[in-house]
Amino acid sequence: MTEAVLLVGGKGTRLQPLTINTPKPMVPAAGVPFLAHQLARARAAGVDHVVLATSYLAEVFEPYFGDGSAHGIRLTYVTEDEPLGTGGAIRSAARALSARPGDPVLVFNGDILTGLDIPDLLLRHERAQADVTLHLTRVADPRAFGLVPTDATGRVLAFTEKPRHPDEIVTDQVNAGCYVFRRQVIDGIPDDRPVSVERETFPGLLADGALLHGVVDGSYWLDLGRPASFVQASADLVRGIVRSPAVPGEPGEYLVLPGAHVERGARLGGGTVVGAGARVGDGADVQGSVVLDGARIEAGAQVRASMVGTGARVGPRTVLDGAVIGDHSEIGADNELREGARIWCGTAIPDAAIRFSAV
Ligand code: GTP
Repeated sequence: MTEAVLLVGGKGTRLQPLTINTPKPMVPAAGVPFLAHQLARARAAGVDHVVLATSYLAEVFEPYFGDGSAHGIRLTYVTEDEPLGTGGAIRSAARALSARPGDPVLVFNGDILTGLDIPDLLLRHERAQADVTLHLTRVADPRAFGLVPTDATGRVLAFTEKPRHPDEIVTDQVNAGCYVFRRQVIDGIPDDRPVSVERETFPGLLADGALLHGVVDGSYWLDLGRPASFVQASADLVRGIVRSPAVPGEPGEYLVLPGAHVERGARLGGGTVVGAGARVGDGADVQGSVVLDGARIEAGAQVRASMVGTGARVGPRTVLDGAVIGDHSEIGADNELREGARIWCGTAIPDAAIRFSAV
């Protein structure tokens, strides 16, 4: 039996306002909650039991995923009363695992989309006889990540979380948010207080001489923490650039969910998804964007690399480029919202009130 812990309890502050009513892993990407893609990928890798470590908006997961049988996987929910951080959450979730002390346990951050070969990671963990094996990926600008240099054998040498000084940038290998833990290592994490696995557990294990093994992998990898990367991930799933068995349709330039209505004169592309009950008007152009259920894009609007929240309305001829429109907001005609503009849920913006600004 292969078991995994999925960390889904974070507040997702960088993705606000879409995470005000919905926890980040439940925000739809390519037509289904992002978590559905992770579960499908885990299942395809042979994982048969997943413990969901919930905290923020914990109550919304179970009504959707139930016991997991509809997704071909057994799901157990463990909820922290107070958020325990990444390490504390792993420790708390371990209560629900059957794994014995020496068995491997997979741990996934809930906001990572990757084409990683999970069975291969497990194999490398066994071969290295590691205490913890970490998936590492190379990024062009590692400053926003946890740096993890390794030696020629893959042994982890250090952890530098979000380096501030140029001298600290000793590698482009970063923590990719997927681990294999030996079960007994999880049991060593304190269970009575918040713990960060990145800032406390891993550096502590290194200092104690544990074997932490890094596996650098060049497959698709994206951290969905920010709106721009969330939109990108959704578009890549729709287009089949990264494959997920949970996408409700064949790969293509757009995905329109049942119950949506797109006027014949509208243009969709770049991996756009149009949610159930949403409407796209005549002459509207929607590229590389996520239009959530019940949203309306009026005639002649131009939408690019943006997220339009549930039930929101984008007025005629309004331009969105890299914008996030919160649920049930009303954007009037002839506005122009670019460069990371975010509109809070339920906001009403009159016609022609905004040009180019970030809100
Ligand atoms: P930001 O607030 O935007 O940084 O997002 P986040 O809250 O998701 O934090 P971060 O991206 O650092 O978290 C990495 C993963 O761990 C995500 O999948 C979170 O859901 C999860 N996570 C973070 N903190 C906790 C926690 O206290 N409890 C649980 N169960 N999961 C957590």
